[in-house]
Order: sequence, then structure tokens, then C-alpha cells
Amino acid sequence: MQIDESSPSENGGTDSRTATQCPFAQPPPVPPDDGCSAQARSFDPFGEDYQQDPPGSLRWSRAEEPVFYSPVLGYWVVTRYADVKAIFQDNIRFSPSIALEKITPVSAEATEVLRRHDYAMARTLVNEDEPAHMPRRRALMEPFTAAALAQQEPVVRRLVRERVDRFIDTGEADLVDELLYEVPLTVALHFLGVPEEDMDKLREYSVAHTVNTWGRPTPEQQVAVADTVGKFWQYAGEVLEKLRKDPSGPGWMPYAIRMQRRLPEVITDSYLHSIMMAGIVAAHETTAHAAANAFRLLLENRGAWREICADPALIPNTVEECLRHSGSVAAWRRITTARTRIGDVTVPEGAKLLIVNSSANHDERHFHDPDEVDIRRENARDHLTFGYGSHQCMGKNLARMELQIFLEEITTRLPHLELVPDQRFHYLPNTSFRGPEHVRVRWDPRDNPERANPGTARNSRPVTIGEPPRRTITRPVKVESIEQAAAGIARITLVDTRAEPLPSWSPGAHVDIELNGMSRQYSLCGDPADRTRYQIAVFREPGGRGGSEYVHDRLRVGDQLNLRGPRNNFKLEPDAGHYVFIAGGIGITPIIAMADAALRAGSDYEIHYCGRSAGAMVLLARLIRDHGNRLTVHCSDQGGRLNVDELLADPREDTQIYACGPQRLLAALETATARWPQNALRVERFEADRGALDPAHEHAFDVELAESGRTVRVAADRSVLAALREADVDVPSDCEQGLCGTCELPVRDGEVDHRDHVLTRTERRRNDKMMTCCSRARGAKLTLEL
Ligand code: FES
Repeated sequence: MQIDESSPSENGGTDSRTATQCPFAQPPPVPPDDGCSAQARSFDPFGEDYQQDPPGSLRWSRAEEPVFYSPVLGYWVVTRYADVKAIFQDNIRFSPSIALEKITPVSAEATEVLRRHDYAMARTLVNEDEPAHMPRRRALMEPFTAAALAQQEPVVRRLVRERVDRFIDTGEADLVDELLYEVPLTVALHFLGVPEEDMDKLREYSVAHTVNTWGRPTPEQQVAVADTVGKFWQYAGEVLEKLRKDPSGPGWMPYAIRMQRRLPEVITDSYLHSIMMAGIVAAHETTAHAAANAFRLLLENRGAWREICADPALIPNTVEECLRHSGSVAAWRRITTARTRIGDVTVPEGAKLLIVNSSANHDERHFHDPDEVDIRRENARDHLTFGYGSHQCMGKNLARMELQIFLEEITTRLPHLELVPDQRFHYLPNTSFRGPEHVRVRWDPRDNPERANPGTARNSRPVTIGEPPRRTITRPVKVESIEQAAAGIARITLVDTRAEPLPSWSPGAHVDIELNGMSRQYSLCGDPADRTRYQIAVFREPGGRGGSEYVHDRLRVGDQLNLRGPRNNFKLEPDAGHYVFIAGGIGITPIIAMADAALRAGSDYEIHYCGRSAGAMVLLARLIRDHGNRLTVHCSDQGGRLNVDELLADPREDTQIYACGPQRLLAALETATARWPQNALRVERFEADRGALDPAHEHAFDVELAESGRTVRVAADRSVLAALREADVDVPSDCEQGLCGTCELPVRDGEVDHRDHVLTRTERRRNDKMMTCCSRARGAKLTLEL
């Protein structure tokens, strides 16, 4: 097999070890003890640090050694977002075949116990390779569609209400025992179409299955666990046999039996038995854990709890943030099918990988301030808790639905709930599945809202099926001040309406602001350390699309606005030997924060600020004050035009150029840096350089949606975004000119003709995402992760 090893990491990892330094050609019988750092050697996924806080225990790895070999485990451990996502995305180079392999080798005695139970677990959806996997996944997908899941909502809501009714007047409860375990299990059985009577037995079976696959049982425990797993296998077979007699009923298993009759070569007998057992575990345990994690997290972060009590519309994104911050799947596994590179590290063929999605979810390269809980985090839904790519969790939207309903019901009926103080949270020791065994809460029943208002419990909104649309994730802010900062430029200061701290941001970030029905992007230009306020500067654009005129003519101090973000498509890369910052006019807004950061870091930098006249150049006095000796001002009314060819005549390896300004300036910079190293020039645009599509020079193509299997035709005169919307596929957008990154969708297959100004050249080459408002297919088809 030909494997592409050419793609370098963008992670900037400091470790470039190869297999020759941590040597083994095959998964080693004896773990190597040289070539590994002290931290890698001491990493123990069964130790207290990882068990209590998987992402926190791997902070050192994300910073210094994002791919390392763990001699304790016999696995390579991968911890950064980009690497974990890339592994999930490539199921050929990184086979899922070991996803359910027992992480602790099974003793001969335990193996014998399993044999006595005729235990013969075959591959299932989570651990089978192509070409077998995808035809099965597609054949079994129908019950997971949005329309099918919507039918589950009344069942879930009824179950939750009934369980809450049982304890609402008691004043104290263990949420796991009394709600969060039983409901997902009942929903899972209902969804699968299997009987509910054996609930306790199934709980015991599920725990045994987790310990058996992802835990470290002692030899004695292994025998007991093997016995329980064997009984689970037998039980799954018996239920399957019963269902086979009449598979006409509702549920995923009867559906799978019916599909087997249509496609016997795709869905075999042993396959059905295996997915029966795996389905029972997969469909409820991860949801129960995720719900327990979410309640613990939100009750420990009372500000977030209060907000969702006051505004249930925040719950869908709160679910995403909980899944990101404290998801129930901490790590997953893959094995390499060829010698290959992950980030900067070369790993051999047959290398077993522990890909720590919980660590990826706390990677500051993707999530700003990742340890903070921000229920309005715009990219919370980018978490990898459900995996990614063709093996992504099929039941993810059922889990999302259950989590939303748990939170809606409890925040409505018991908003005064609190954690019992000083309780210690225990987790079942294992590498992958994570949720506290108990979450004890208390409240004063006299304050239950429905005692004062008996109708409270019956108010509910339809759940969001799937990820919440980005445009719904907004933050209310108030205009604190408006000042004329230069000719035609207004500086606006915004504060949180509840006087809460605003999310932190990094230089280069922008926010989206809704202005009278229009959404506009503005770079943040204040002090990133000041979380009480944001500052933006808005240039009045005569003949613009109306946003700037609204700000200048109608916006008033005290007005409330909805804001999304901050988001950063223009990040300042640390560690450059020298920075050249170039701004034209209002383009100084992202640049000044970058220059401030370079000054604080003691970096070497220069600023070139171009404008018509000093009077039209916003922030000029501040720049002169703080960056005087680094600043060169180019005023065209004084003949001081910047000569970019002269400035950038000599390519330099150690120099990063950041520029923001009018199209003419940026085009000149692109020409001037043609011989510079790749990605030396980073630009932020506030106007597009491309006109409407010309059908005479475009071609039509198909877009296949991998999750639903639908295919949408994109005509030569339509954008992908427009074609998807016409097919009722909701994709958020803002600028629709390839500038803001809002319409980004992940690409599974097909070559993209990138036409945006958001992605770097390296990101374009990676070909794993596209801006649907402007980019197109080079060939006849693209497959999107949708
Ligand atoms: Fe802004 Fe597509 S909507 S890049």
C-alpha cells in the first residue's frame, strides 16, 4: 500500500523522535525503555491523575510531546486536536480494528471462561475496516435520521418526568442512581426494540463489558468479569432469537433483522449477535456518563447553571460545551497499517494508538481558554467526543436529545439544585469511558417552582436534533460608549449585559455582531487582558452593505446587540524570529493587538501603517505611544506610500508577515512574497476580491452528504452553500465571500477548489474542510461530513 507521508505537522511540535529512537518495528512484546522522555515513561492511564482528569494529566504532552510512546501501555499516545482529528479521518492508514481489543491482555483462565459461554464477539460498526464497514453503516442508518429520532422525544421526556416525580419532594438524590443511568438504559432498550425487564442485570453486564475491554482487572477479577461478559453474550443471543420470530416491531434491532433479510451478505448472523451486545452498551452507557459529567460540571459552575435556568434556549449549546469539556469518551484506539507520520513523529506499521479525544477537546490550538466552561462557545460543537469521520458515533443525536431533555427538565423543575458539598467523585478505572459513579445533589423542596406554579413542569420546547446551528449561539452585549476615533471611524466599546466577564480572546480575533438583521464581522482591537469589555472600530463605508452606516447613524450608547465569537482565523504564531505587521486603513484593528502581543513577548517586530492621511488613521496616537520606534507611518497625502517590493525583497526563513487592509495592498503583498517560504504571509481581509460565479467557466458537480447518504447537485451557477440550502440542509453563513469562516464544512472525500481567504496554504493542501459559500469541487464529486 502506498502511504502518503509527506504532510508535515502544523502543530509546531518540539519532538521529532522517530522509531529509531524509540525502537520497535512491530508492536513490541517488551516495551522499549529508551528514547522516551521521563514524562512519557511515567504516563499511566490507570493512575490517579489520568483517571481524575484525563485532559489535565496530558497538558504537558499537548505542550511538549504531542505524540509519545507509553511503555506502560505499549501504545503511542496522541493528544493534540489536529492529530486526533486527522487520525479519525483516515480509517485506512489508521485502522479501527483494535478499538474493542482488551487493553489488558486476557488471562488463560478468563479466556477459558469466555469459551465456555461460546463468547464470539465479532467486529461491529466501531472496529471494522473498509470495505465491510460502510455498506453496513449505511444499511443500518435509517433509525438514526432526524425524522426517526424525533419520534423518540416524547418517550425520553415522559421517562425523565416520571423519574423526577419520584424524588422531587425528597430534597436529596443521587442523580446517577435515580435518573441518569436508568433513563438512558430504558431509552436504549426502547430504541433497540428489546424488552426492558432485565434492567439491573444489564447494568451489571455493562460494567463488566467496560472493565473487560478498557479496564485493568486483576487476574482474579478477570475470571469474574469474563463470566459476566459471557452471560451478557448469551443474553444478547437469546433476545435476538426472540426478536427474529417477529421482527416487524419498532426499534433498531428489528430493523437490522429486516435489513439482514434484504442484504444477507452485508449483515451476517454473527454480525447481528455482536451488534446486539455492543448496541446495548454503546446506546446507554456513554449517554449516562455524559449526563452525569454535565450535571457535575454545570453545578460546579453556577454562573452557567443560572444562565440555562433563565434561558433554556442556551441548552443545546450547553450540551455541546459539556461534551467538549467533560465528555464521556476520554480516549479511543487505532492501529497503523503502514509506517506513517503523526504530527512530527514517525510511527511504525502496526503501532497501537491511544487517541485521547478528551485531551484534543482541551487543546488551546483549537479551543480558546479550553479549561473554561463557556456555554456560548461558538466552536464547542467541534469537540471530538463522538469521534469524527466515517466511524463517528451513530447514536450521537440520540445522546444529544437525552442530554437536552435532562437539562431542560431539571433546570425547570429544580433550578435551586446544588451539589452535596465535599463529596468525592469516583470513576470506574479504565482508559476510555468516563463518568462519576454517583452525583449527590440536594435542594429545599419548599422552593420547588411547581409548588407555586403547578404548570411549570409541563412547559417544554422541542429539542434540537443534531448540533445547534452556529447562528443561534449568541451573547447579549450592551454598547458602553461610542467615540469618533478618526475621520469616518467610530470606536465602540461593548460590555456584557449581565456584567459577567466576556470570553478571552487572542490577537487577530474577530466577533460577529448582529446589526438590525445584518451580521457583520469586526476585529477586536482593545486589550485582551481586559475581560470586562471589547473594543471594535468601524469605518463608514459609503456604498457598503449597510452595516457600517447603521453603526455610525443609528447605534446608541445603551443599545443591546447580539454577538457571536470571538473567533480567530488570523492567529499570531508564536516563536517567529521577526514579525512584519502591515496595516492599511481600518486594517490596523487586528494588527495592533498582534503588535501589542509581540511587544509583551519581547519579540522582534516592525509595523507599517498605511493611510490616506494622519487624520484618517485610527489608533495612531496609541501606536506612536506604545510602538514608536517600531512603527513606520505611510501617509499617501504626504507621498509616503509603502513600497512593498522593496520592503519584502529578500525572503527570510524566520520572518512572519501579518497584513490586513484593502484588496489592492494585499494583492501587492502576495506578489511580493511569491518567493517567500510557504505561509510566511498571513492576511485578514475585509473585502472579497472575487465577483459572481461565471457559469461559462464553472462546472456542475455532486455533493454527497456522508451521514445521510443524500446527494445534492451543485449547478455551475450555484455555490455549494446555496445548493445545500435549496435541499433544506441548514448551513450557517455570514460574509458569503470567503472571508469569515462561518460556512466551513468538513470534507471527507474529493478534491476541493479552494477560493476562500480563510484557510492557509497548508490547510488547503490537507483538503479536509472547505468554505461552502465560495469553494467548489475540482472533479465531479465531493463528500462532506454532514
Ligand atoms: Fe463567510 Fe463563507 S460565509 S467564509
